[in-house]
Amino acid sequence: MRQSSLVVVANRLPIDDNTAPDGACEWRRSPGGLVSALHPLLRAAPATWVGWAGGTGPAPVLPDVDGVRMHSVPLSQADLHDHYEGFANSTLWPLYHDAVEQPVHHRRWWEAYQRVNQRFAEATAEVAEPGALVWVQDYHLQLVPGLLRALRPDLRIGFFLHVPFPPPELFMQLPRRAELLRGMLGADLVGFQRAQAAHNFAQLAVKVLQLPATDRRIAVDDRVVRIGAFPVSIDTAEMAALATRPDVAARAARLRHDLGNPGQVILSVDRMDYTKGIEQRLKAYSELLADGHVKVRDTVLVQVAVPSRERVGQYQDLRERVEREVGRINGEFGRVGEPAIHYLTQPFDRAELTALYRVADVMAVTPLRDGMNLVAKEYVAARVDDAGALLLSEFAGAAAELSQAYLVNPHDLEGLKQGLLTALRADPADVRERMRAMREHLHRHDIRAWARSYLSALDESDSLLTRLGANA
Ligand code: ADP
Ligand code: G6P
Repeated sequence: MRQSSLVVVANRLPIDDNTAPDGACEWRRSPGGLVSALHPLLRAAPATWVGWAGGTGPAPVLPDVDGVRMHSVPLSQADLHDHYEGFANSTLWPLYHDAVEQPVHHRRWWEAYQRVNQRFAEATAEVAEPGALVWVQDYHLQLVPGLLRALRPDLRIGFFLHVPFPPPELFMQLPRRAELLRGMLGADLVGFQRAQAAHNFAQLAVKVLQLPATDRRIAVDDRVVRIGAFPVSIDTAEMAALATRPDVAARAARLRHDLGNPGQVILSVDRMDYTKGIEQRLKAYSELLADGHVKVRDTVLVQVAVPSRERVGQYQDLRERVEREVGRINGEFGRVGEPAIHYLTQPFDRAELTALYRVADVMAVTPLRDGMNLVAKEYVAARVDDAGALLLSEFAGAAAELSQAYLVNPHDLEGLKQGLLTALRADPADVRERMRAMREHLHRHDIRAWARSYLSALDESDSLLTRLGANA
């Protein structure tokens, strides 16, 4: 077994299974910001990524991807159902997002969660060289830090939660709250998107485990666990480079033409998830059409909603409701060749997505709750022309950084309608000033800055970062 000095552990591997037209299966690097940011760092280490390759059955043996070793962990049908769709996405996901859908509890799901976390911990223990740095990601794997420390006390372990960490009143609902907290506290550094989340975590450590805790440190046994906020970001430079490509500019012009050269284009890009506030946004838009404040010929809404977690009932129900509402709005307000909403459920490549961002006069990002929301940051990075108004929910982590966005409370329908109108009617000089300030922020706080700040906090001696030098 080859071992590495840096190991990233995440539920998903950073590669996708692409099936060619001739049926041949090919593994390709997935385009996520995390992957591109960590890539130079991982390659120099050299690093291993431990994760699930999708599907069920035996774990595939995967080739290295650009020098990064892929170590796949298998999930059975029962694991997929009880761990991924069950405890991770029907218990934790809704609870951590303000319980906007009802969290479901089943004892069998907890057993699967423990079993799968143990499997990930064992796989990581095998591939980590003595004293290695291990970075565990997200809510699917909250027990891994504790389980891994028991197996390999020599390792330096980091944990980062990409989603919100809820206030104590909500977290206390979890039947296994103490075990989940203890699992995370197996890490040397626990990172969150926002300072409020670190505060919630510290309060729970006191309340549930009676540990001495501040918003920066928690004393556990004979160790000190550091906690803090490390807001994740995107590859700003890559997005800006894409946005300035002539073919992307040409594609944006073509898209505007194909949309009927409307006065204004509103765009939303979401995974089809009940946390994203898609239904509230559609309702606000439909009322603006009904009130006559917005006219179909002048304004169009493009809603991209790529299906997600499709075997989970709450996601199936949401998709049905969204599609019924889009149909109703188009039936009521559209004209032949002029729909009120252009509704797309397809995945797009980065260039097409960037062209869409460049066409959007108003980008409506209005989740009910979101850990960060990278779409908001991608839109800002793509607006190299400093045009475009970002309408952003106060309940997205991104709002803490992008304070110059037009901020709204998506639970307040009147406020949401007013926010849309304000963004649509904003003075171009005001729009430009806000966009410029947000672009400057993202230029300084890109994904490399995020990885560097987290890893240098984890690796107190800085030995890994020093070794990696410029690559870090
Ligand atoms: P979440 O992590 O909840 O899915 P984010 O907004 O943080 O929400 O991240 C979503 C990511 O998925 C972004 O990088 C976005 O560009 C990408 N994405 C969303 N919809 C599509 C789509 N239809 N095609 C391709 N990429 C998409
Ligand atoms: C969110 C989570 C990620 C997850 C992603 C896509 O961003 O924080 O951990 O990978 O959604 O969801 P999926 O269930 O398809 O992995």
